[in-house]
Amino acid sequence: MSVDSVLTAPAALAGPLTLVHAADDTPGWWRSAVIYQVYPRSFRDLNGDGVGDLAGITAELPQLAELEIDAVWLSPFYRSPQRDAGYDVSDYCDVDPLFGTLADFDAMMAEANRLGLRLIVDLVPNHCSDQHAAFQAALAAPAGSPERDMFIFRDGRGDSGEQPPNNWQSHFGGPAWTRITEPDGTPGQWYLHLFDTSQPDFNWDNDAVHAEFERVLRFWLDRGVSGFRVDVAHALVKAPGLPEWGGRADGNSSHGFPGHEAPMFGQPALHDIYRTWRRILAEYGPDRILCAEANVDPLPRLADWVRPDEMHQAFNFPYLHAGLDVHRMRHVITESLTALDAVGAPSTWVLSNHDVVRHATRFGYNGPAPRDGDGIGPADVQPDEALGRSRAAAASMFMLGLPGGAYLYQGEELGLPDGIDIPDSQRQDPTFGRTGGERLGRDGCRVPLPWRSGEPHAGFGAGADPWLPQPASFAGLARDAQAASPSSHLNLYRRMLALRRELSLGQGSLTWLENWCTDTSLAYLNGTTAVLLNVGPEPLELPAGQVLLRSFVSAEQGEDAHRLSSGETVWLEIYIEDTES
Ligand code: BGC
Repeated sequence: MSVDSVLTAPAALAGPLTLVHAADDTPGWWRSAVIYQVYPRSFRDLNGDGVGDLAGITAELPQLAELEIDAVWLSPFYRSPQRDAGYDVSDYCDVDPLFGTLADFDAMMAEANRLGLRLIVDLVPNHCSDQHAAFQAALAAPAGSPERDMFIFRDGRGDSGEQPPNNWQSHFGGPAWTRITEPDGTPGQWYLHLFDTSQPDFNWDNDAVHAEFERVLRFWLDRGVSGFRVDVAHALVKAPGLPEWGGRADGNSSHGFPGHEAPMFGQPALHDIYRTWRRILAEYGPDRILCAEANVDPLPRLADWVRPDEMHQAFNFPYLHAGLDVHRMRHVITESLTALDAVGAPSTWVLSNHDVVRHATRFGYNGPAPRDGDGIGPADVQPDEALGRSRAAAASMFMLGLPGGAYLYQGEELGLPDGIDIPDSQRQDPTFGRTGGERLGRDGCRVPLPWRSGEPHAGFGAGADPWLPQPASFAGLARDAQAASPSSHLNLYRRMLALRRELSLGQGSLTWLENWCTDTSLAYLNGTTAVLLNVGPEPLELPAGQVLLRSFVSAEQGEDAHRLSSGETVWLEIYIEDTES
């Protein structure tokens, strides 16, 4: 078959245009920032105990600065029994010895400042660890005491209080309530935990809880952080009376239950909390930000979180979940920009984080990829690693051309896949234990990073085995090996991020190029840069324009120079005529 016979239309870019979002030069570094998520346990292990540490992050920060990112967001490194990898905090104002000390934090902050990188830390205000002093005090105090009122304790139902107070389920499986034994040894009240048993929910109807978190905010702001990613920011306040809920534990729509009606999510009183926090941040100047991890459904409601006096940003999970379905992508992008423009907030875009299967693995499936939190094991249908990596490059290039901010997850610049061959005995995510192994959990995306190909554990650390085993492919994907190869995933990210900055794409516009928005392709214009994605099985003829960058580096030469391959994205510099009068 000749090349020409497999090319499908349309090659010309001229045609109808649909403007969705105009260029925006409103001040605010975060409005167009690229923020890189560091998951400390898996970033770099300098002390050789098999778990990453703050000193390891400090040592490698120059490698991140080279990527031309704006900021680093750190997942929790606070004191914690690590039952949920640090999202179970026992002291919000100290560093867990596993990761180092407050002095190590200060050294990391100083190095970030030297490199011109901002640091954002994770704030976990919905729940703490059952080892937190406040929860221990609540267990020791009687029902109805001020100590118990810091949390959500209730009497059980049934003749002797033997049934949980309501039917809510934990995100990690099983009931969202655990019964305690009272100090006198009798079976007692129940406490609410939307996550693991070891993560009791705070009672945000209590002013003392507000005061405690305002103290925590100031503690880290005083140490120089540029802001906070707020964990499950939509969950803090629960509906009065804790009514029954028959929908999904994560509050997303399904089975006829609209997600926004869930009594544990999106309650109106939440917004005053964030207004107060924004005022506190403003005392430290205009550059400190709040980013909501709010899985809000339906999407336009996300705008409520980022009104001018509330948070600065919110994660766009509908974009992550749109995959490479061009119709869903277009819908989510249009809906996000329209809803967020209405409140003057920038959008953010994200494809991977520590809670979902990495996008290089998700895109390695032709059918549906596993559900978030389910993970992939050796007995499951296996992804095609090479296909996933090349589609991931295309997806990242499509995302990083969009106006707004973007979040990257450590290792995606290396095209890392999930760890799949993790023995059950080494799985650590509470989802695995709480579902009796039915859901494998999130360990696969948390496997320690490969830095140097010739070193033990691919350069993650020279001592003990990493806390999760690395796949065999990690040595070949190590950063040093990729740095030396012009066609590597890492070098594509470097070029892409540098160009995004040079062209100010983050502050740019979005106009759909209708001729290219088909069932198998999607294209937009941001300024004079056209971004074209082909997800169809056949190559497409490239329209006229100067190729700035393509996601298949090898396609820059030969006959491929004139075609956009299946699963490829290109950035083109173009001059375009609007054929509509
Ligand atoms: C975090 C998870 C964590 C959960 C409970 C999520 O939003 O991203 O990693 O398990 O909150 O804190």
